[in-house]
Amino acid sequence: MKEQLEAIHKSALESVSETKAATDLEALRVKYLGKKGELTGLLKQMGGLSAELRPIMGQMANDVRAAVEKAIDEQSAILERRAMEQRLASETLDVTIPGKKLRMGHKHPMYSVLDEIKDIFIGMGFEILDGPEVELADYNFTKLNTPDDHPAREWSDTFYLTEDSNVLLRTQTSSMQIRAMETRSLPIRVMSPGRVYRKDEVDATHSPMFHQIEGLVVDQGITMGDLKGTLNAVIRKIYGENTVTRFRPHHFPFTEPSCEMDIQCHKCGGVGCPTCKGEGWIEVLGAGMVHPKVLRGCGIDPDVYSGFAFGMGLERLALGQYKISDMRLIFENDVRFLEQF
Ligand code: DAH
Repeated sequence: MKEQLEAIHKSALESVSETKAATDLEALRVKYLGKKGELTGLLKQMGGLSAELRPIMGQMANDVRAAVEKAIDEQSAILERRAMEQRLASETLDVTIPGKKLRMGHKHPMYSVLDEIKDIFIGMGFEILDGPEVELADYNFTKLNTPDDHPAREWSDTFYLTEDSNVLLRTQTSSMQIRAMETRSLPIRVMSPGRVYRKDEVDATHSPMFHQIEGLVVDQGITMGDLKGTLNAVIRKIYGENTVTRFRPHHFPFTEPSCEMDIQCHKCGGVGCPTCKGEGWIEVLGAGMVHPKVLRGCGIDPDVYSGFAFGMGLERLALGQYKISDMRLIFENDVRFLEQF
């Protein structure tokens, strides 16, 4: 039995010192010290020994057990330390490596122009309104005094979403005039920018989706003078204080009288050049005094209140501001183009 104990002692210490993984070490613990382990098996045979030998062998077996346990614990500590060293070596962080640069985007040039314009209107006491792009024909046309046979209502011009022509993608932000007058208390001073849609082929100056900015003022005693004063102030803030403007008579169903506003070409000073297509003037917006029928339709008494409205294309403003020659560049979102702004 002594030899067997010594053999177990020797082989256990050897195999423990050779283990490389915690799982192998655990297997050895079971193999030697477990309930069905080699040492336990030997202890069970103690009963067959003589009374003198039994304590001696018992003592020896306990010593072997203690030695093996100690060896396993020590090896376990060694393996843990080794694993930690490996992790430290593989997970080192080199704080001197240059960081990865984040590619930051920036605001689209058209939205920069829009923000500028919003600021101008907010400064004049206007509120900014947001509205639906999927709109009722009632708001886009009918309540804006647009007759049933108006060409803009044709299926060839407008994106309808229902067979009965009642729901459409709005063709103008003027629909927001009606929404404002129906929901807000007087006086009203609002501007509403947003997307509009028309069945236009894409070219340098057209797109089936573009942006408009609508404006509406309704109060007692509002006149054409207010319209001209306000729009002159806005346009001079956008295009520069020395900008020369003119108002031409025009027709819109929802205003009476109606006009278009031009600015004198800043390139040629009114003589005529490619920028103004030889006209000397560049059209910037449509406007007019809100039609009494439109006011009445929204429950506002035209004998007490009057108002003016205007609408301008945002792309055209952005193209002019940044001297961009082709509207497609605005929507293509080619980063090489956008990075210039
Ligand atoms: N909605 C018009 C268009 O798309 C622009 C316009 C003209 C808006 C006159 C107005 C206005 O508010 O009074 O051409």
